[in-house]
Amino acid sequence: MKRSAAPIPGSAGRNKLRWPPVAACRIAPTDTSTAGRDFVRAPTLQIIIGSTRPGRVGPAVADWLYQRAIDHGGFAVELIDLAEVDLPMFNEPKHPRFGEYTHAHTKEWSQTIARGDAYIFVTPEYNYAFGAALKNAIDYLHAEWQYKPVGFASYGGVAAGTRAVQMLKQVVTVLKMVPLTESVSIPFVQQMIDADRRFVPNEAAEAGATAMLDELARWATTLRTMRETAA
Ligand SMILES: Cc1cc2nc3c(=O)[nH]c(=O)nc-3n(C[C@H](O)[C@H](O)[C@H](O)COP(=O)(O)O)c2cc1C
Repeated sequence: MKRSAAPIPGSAGRNKLRWPPVAACRIAPTDTSTAGRDFVRAPTLQIIIGSTRPGRVGPAVADWLYQRAIDHGGFAVELIDLAEVDLPMFNEPKHPRFGEYTHAHTKEWSQTIARGDAYIFVTPEYNYAFGAALKNAIDYLHAEWQYKPVGFASYGGVAAGTRAVQMLKQVVTVLKMVPLTESVSIPFVQQMIDADRRFVPNEAAEAGATAMLDELARWATTLRTMRETAA
């Protein structure tokens, strides 16, 4: 079945500052050639843009990875823009582990993340850490993240966002996610953005993406089986 692009729930125009114009949740069409045969659903990979400021480079890096993930062929791929999701600062009264959400934006965010089998967090480094928008989006949920792999595409100055990733690893392990070693780490990212504001990958970025996508596919399948048999 072909999937069409759909707006992400909860994105109803609260944030107008997005650049470049990516959909809040862009869903890539999947291959229909397996119709009529025994079919194991390709794992759903969600690429999450972790920066929200006007003029950010996050979407440029994420757009490149989105295409790389489609070309990989092992996933149904979704691109999620936290600027469009536009969650308010965490405002649920109960701990997310109860799953008793009171707000429509949380229920919608929950449904979005629950359908993912694997994630890539595309993150800048702000003051030696990852950004507040990503932390907020992570904190909203609990079971939706559990027993799923996560890869990191980080960028920044000389440290390539790796300090942000080290902090992210601490956070995601509390949620029982599986953080991957294989990653994309982009130093001096501004020098890799062309005149059309597109990310121009170098050899290291390409190699990192290939290794991370291969590893994500492996873990996504394994952990999905584990979740299904445990259920
Ligand atoms: C508030 C702020 C803090 C920053 N701190 C760091 C930092 O600690 N390390 C670093 O390498 N770059 C840092 N930078 C530079 C960012 O990595 C760079 O601006 C990057 O493009 C930010 O990602 P974005 O464009 O997607 O928002 C910082 C930028 C901002 C706006």
